[in-house]
Amino acid sequence: MQQSAPTAENAGFHVPHHVAIIMDGNGRWAAQRGLPRHEGHRRGVEALRRTVRAAGEMGIGVLTIFSFSAENWSRPATEVRELMALLRRFIRHDLAELHRNNVRVRVIGEREGLEADICRLLEEAEQLTRDNSGLVLVVAFNYGARQEIARAARQLAADVAAGRLEISAITAERFSVYLDAHDIPDPDLIIRTSGEQRLSNFLLWQAAYSELVFVPVHWPDFDRHALQGAIADFQRRERRFGGLVTRTGS
Ligand code: IPE
Ligand code: IPE
Ligand code: MG
Repeated sequence: MQQSAPTAENAGFHVPHHVAIIMDGNGRWAAQRGLPRHEGHRRGVEALRRTVRAAGEMGIGVLTIFSFSAENWSRPATEVRELMALLRRFIRHDLAELHRNNVRVRVIGEREGLEADICRLLEEAEQLTRDNSGLVLVVAFNYGARQEIARAARQLAADVAAGRLEISAITAERFSVYLDAHDIPDPDLIIRTSGEQRLSNFLLWQAAYSELVFVPVHWPDFDRHALQGAIADFQRRERRFGGLVTRTGS
């Protein structure tokens, strides 16, 4: 996967290839200012624009964003409507610029049951940008990791039933091929804003060896500086993947 050239600002700054973000805290950001929750979501879209720009400039290969969970349907209907409207507006307003900036958009999550025009917009974003070679922006929309794993199991079982796959051939690696966006490497770093320290059904399979960084800022306040801070945190971690880290002289 091609990465954008590093800028002078981040030359020598080793960035993780795949960063995933749980964009949380819009509602609390708004409540702290006496504003309605949708104002927090609106400002959250601005933070998303800043973050996508910063990620591309920093040479990050893949940025995955958790924009709407399979469980978020349980929010009041007015808030769900506002979030859907923001997604529509984001794609309509920002797709051309993302395309100009060589961003490739991918979407993960359940499409079935979504309103037809939203499905069309998601498909349009993927189709228009499919040959771009810059930052890959993975939008997790109507996404739940358990649902993704169950969907994968269903397809795998269908392949076994049809004789296309031997039960003995099922390995973790083979299973993962049935997951959404299976061609994209697992996230190196998962950031959650707002101080909450949980995954909330996000990338449970892919997060097996991700480094988790929890930042205290609410999503609408997230910016390049906060992203750099989380990456600096990541760089201080020692990733072992179950093995031992060999150090010279020890
Ligand atoms: C994140 O902010 C946006 C979505 C989950 C869609 P929240 O809306 O969860 O904000 P808080 O957690 O209530 O502050
Ligand atoms: C996770 O945030 C989902 C998104 C950021 C889209 P939530 O705010 O929905 O998670 P919980 O309910 O606090 O775990
Ligand atoms: Mg939340």
